[in-house]
Amino acid sequence: MAHKCWQTWLNIALVFLTTTAADFTTECQRPCDCRWQSGNKAAICANSSLRVIPVNLSSDIQILDLSNNNLLQLHQEAFKRVGLSNLKKLFLKDCNIEVVHKAAFVSLAIMIELDLSKNRIRHLHPDTFKGTEKLRLINLSNNLVDKLEDGLFRNLKYLQKVELSNNRIVRIATKAFVNLPQLKILRIDGNNLSHMKPETLMALRNLSGLDLHNNPWRCDCNLQTFRDWVISHNLYTPPTSCAEPASIRSKLWNELDSSNFACRPTILEPLPDSTIKSYEENVTLICKVVGNPTPEVFWRFNGKTIELRSFGEIRYTVSENTMDLIRFVNLTVLHTRYSDRGNYTCVAENPGGRDEKTLTLVLSKYSGSGTIAEHGIKKTDQDGYQFL
Ligand SMILES: *[C@@H]1O[C@H](CO)[C@@H](O)[C@H](O)[C@H]1NC(C)=O
Ligand SMILES: *[C@@H]1O[C@H](CO)[C@@H](O)[C@H](O)[C@H]1NC(C)=O
Ligand SMILES: *[C@@H]1O[C@H](CO)[C@@H](O)[C@H](O)[C@H]1NC(C)=O
Ligand SMILES: *[C@@H]1O[C@H](CO)[C@@H](O)[C@H](O)[C@H]1NC(C)=O
Ligand SMILES: *[C@@H]1O[C@H](CO)[C@@H](O)[C@H](O)[C@H]1NC(C)=O
Ligand SMILES: *[C@@H]1O[C@H](CO)[C@@H](O)[C@H](O)[C@H]1NC(C)=O
Ligand SMILES: *[C@@H]1O[C@H](CO)[C@@H](O)[C@H](O)[C@H]1NC(C)=O
Ligand SMILES: *[C@@H]1O[C@H](CO)[C@@H](O)[C@H](O)[C@H]1NC(C)=O
Repeated sequence: MAHKCWQTWLNIALVFLTTTAADFTTECQRPCDCRWQSGNKAAICANSSLRVIPVNLSSDIQILDLSNNNLLQLHQEAFKRVGLSNLKKLFLKDCNIEVVHKAAFVSLAIMIELDLSKNRIRHLHPDTFKGTEKLRLINLSNNLVDKLEDGLFRNLKYLQKVELSNNRIVRIATKAFVNLPQLKILRIDGNNLSHMKPETLMALRNLSGLDLHNNPWRCDCNLQTFRDWVISHNLYTPPTSCAEPASIRSKLWNELDSSNFACRPTILEPLPDSTIKSYEENVTLICKVVGNPTPEVFWRFNGKTIELRSFGEIRYTVSENTMDLIRFVNLTVLHTRYSDRGNYTCVAENPGGRDEKTLTLVLSKYSGSGTIAEHGIKKTDQDGYQFL
């Protein structure tokens, strides 16, 4: 009796199983192949010439592989529209996708893996991943994305890995990565990044893998804090190197000292090849410099470094101050005499490099008539000076 009952139950179960299996695998829309894959219902529609997402797949499908098709675009509610809201894994690799509508993925509330690699996506709206809150992996490698806007990766509390290798990213907004407590791996190698601030990644407390190589990093004072942050958090991986400035091109970040990440001085004043004409007794020459770190600045006269004293007499005074990275080092030539005419060069140096600018001082008093009054300045009255 018990045996018979058991038998009947088994038969019913078998019939039930076969019919469900039939629904899902036999009524699979061509060219897809529907099968079980590690306990999930999968539709494998790869390597066809599909131009649209198949419309007649079972709404139970959890894994959808559309890799290597010719989709060109992902429209608004692209998956919801065809009744696919239970996707856990979505493979859209190599599909010639150029445009992704900001609401293409809405309703994919349980999706954990999204592969959009090897497409031609240029732009991602900050709301693209809104509502796909279970995502753990987003693969956007090998696309044409040029910037990551504020909020693009936000509030994805399971997100562990973001791959953006080999795009054209020039800029990552400071709030592109927000509230991603589990993010461990971020790959942004092979892009067009030259600078970045630590603020952009600082909040990613669980970050343990960061690929930054193959970017044209400009290793100057603007990158210094980011470089220091990367090194001190053990996130540096070779061969991340510098593209600029020329003096440290192709040097690895960890071979350089933090102080090498400097902005070379630029002398704003004197202007190149300028001439100062003066009839004053004391003539002040201005040197105005920017540079980070604050440069060392000194003056030369006709190629020789200036000594403030000569034979016990104070010949020059120097006054200097620095405000907001602008540094003034003003040289005053006291009691000018004939021999003070000539070329004055301001030289500025810091670990980033050096700059120099030369001005020619013409003492009007001695020009024109050609009279030489070597010791005369203090004794000569104002009529002795000429304007040029
Ligand atoms: C599609 O093609 C790729 C590359 O030729 C191959 O690796 C993959 O197994 C193919 N997939 C299917 C489902 O045919
Ligand atoms: C989808 O299924 C419907 C109803 O079974 C059918 O009429 C339609 O032709 C199918 N479409 C495709 C693209 O297979
Ligand atoms: C992301 O896509 C690239 C290119 O298709 C592939 O090489 C890489 O292995 C993918 N990463 C993951 C984690 O699947
Ligand atoms: C880092 O990840 C672990 C588990 O992987 C998690 O318990 C922890 O809360 C995460 N850290 C932060 C700062 O969220
Ligand atoms: C990289 O960015 C610069 C501007 O910062 C641009 O001139 C250049 O064309 C870009 N290179 C590539 C390969 O996109
Ligand atoms: C030039 O400088 C000297 C020394 O500081 C000073 O004694 C003198 O008064 C100055 N001359 C003029 C015209 O300012
Ligand atoms: C000053 O510079 C000019 C232009 O470079 C040069 O012709 C002249 O010989 C220099 N004078 C001295 C004294 O070095
Ligand atoms: C140097 O000269 C400039 C221009 O006159 C002036 O603004 C600056 O305050 C001077 N700096 C010092 C330290 O004397």
